[in-house]
Amino acid sequence: MRSIKFVKEFLKHPTQVGAVAESSGFLARKMAQQIGNAQNVVEFGPGTGSVTKEILRHLPATGKLTCLEINPKFCEDLKKIKDGRLEIVNGDVRNFSRQIENYDCILSSLPLGIFEKTQRDKIIAISGRAKKYVQFQYTPFLKSKFKKYFEDVEIKFVPLNIPPAFVYVSKNPRSKNINLKTEKPSRSFPVKIAMQLLMVFVNLWR
Ligand SMILES: C[S@@+](CC[C@H](N)C(=O)[O-])C[C@H]1O[C@@H](n2cnc3c(N)ncnc32)[C@H](O)[C@@H]1O
Repeated sequence: MRSIKFVKEFLKHPTQVGAVAESSGFLARKMAQQIGNAQNVVEFGPGTGSVTKEILRHLPATGKLTCLEINPKFCEDLKKIKDGRLEIVNGDVRNFSRQIENYDCILSSLPLGIFEKTQRDKIIAISGRAKKYVQFQYTPFLKSKFKKYFEDVEIKFVPLNIPPAFVYVSKNPRSKNINLKTEKPSRSFPVKIAMQLLMVFVNLWR
């Protein structure tokens, strides 16, 4: 049922949902393992909650998980997860930049690869306010984007996902003041999708 809802929402809002299938258990676990000893965790784009449930398995009993999800239909489902450590907020991540400083770790499934460049860089800049930023993507070629904002960026490959995914673990933010106006315009949505599919084939071929 969750998968059907996910596909339906993708068809309604393709550029917002950004994936045809929810994350596999392998990817969700790889994401959640990165929280380490963090107490205050925030999740960007929890969707139907596959990563959320894994985070709750790894989070200490005294921890707190805040989920920021733009889609109200997904929020309805997320609110069915009964856990006192969990807070679901229906809203746009870009409106939460100030609060982000209070978190030890951000886990994000936002489809940055298909966002407009300014939107993507704003989200990475917001994320630079936290101590640790964990983001999955379907391409390994975003490292330089993350290095612009973080001293340390490590990439972990998760083959057992549709499509195979890359988890970027970024630590030590460089600066909180990012000038977004100097960025060049982004490629169109179809070009981005074509590039992501090409990447998937290249990775499967290797
Ligand atoms: C690729 S899906 C990931 C869903 C889920 N975490 C998973 O891994 O299966 C991206 C999610 O980000 C949400 N999203 C997109 N833009 C957002 C924004 N600006 N603020 C909050 N959530 C957003 C979408 O609604 C969608 O649920």
